[in-house]
Amino acid sequence: MTNLPEPIERVLYTEEQVSTRIQEIAAEISARYAGRHLKLIGVLKGSVFFLTALARAITIPLKIDFLAISSFNGHAQGSTAGMVRIAKDLDDAIEDEDILLVEDIVDTGFTTRYLLQTLAGRGPRSLGICTLLDRTSRRIVQVPVDFRCFEIGDRFVVGCGLDYKQLYRNLGCVAVLDPRVLDPAALEPE
Ligand code: IMP
Ligand code: MG
Repeated sequence: MTNLPEPIERVLYTEEQVSTRIQEIAAEISARYAGRHLKLIGVLKGSVFFLTALARAITIPLKIDFLAISSFNGHAQGSTAGMVRIAKDLDDAIEDEDILLVEDIVDTGFTTRYLLQTLAGRGPRSLGICTLLDRTSRRIVQVPVDFRCFEIGDRFVVGCGLDYKQLYRNLGCVAVLDPRVLDPAALEPE
């Protein structure tokens, strides 16, 4: 592949592979929620690219809403894992609705667990998790992932919404960042 930014070490999943997998997951979701009205909840900013592609491929009626969080993912040694708070809440209530939380990546699980607990308290009819990437090797708290596109190893990745210092979200592929450019202090809040 050409035209990749310098700090990219290699492509993990091409744009085509990502798109094919999103179509498959969207078909599963459309079948699972057939006859119901689904609401996708995206976590800003990382899940935006995945959520929109997924929403376009889902064939049942759906609504979307977004929230933003501040979190410290603890990927860097010495950073504070597990601290999450809502920086921008949803626009609407979710009571009695079928909710699918859409994530860019579930890593330690702290962010997802916090969001699940928060959303569960608002009385949705159902609450599921869909993630583009799942890194189970770094999981600290268990969360029930219902749909995932790819399981990945313990390498920092960018693209498809995932950033490094807010850059590279717009790459169509999922790519491994050259570990030599990783600045431990930068692996923190959204
Ligand atoms: P968790 O709370 O540890 O599961 O981490 C969730 C957040 O950490 C994700 O939503 C991302 O914003 C960030 N994150 C974790 N791993 C990566 C990565 O490899 N690349 C970019 N962001 C990441
Ligand atoms: Mg980030």
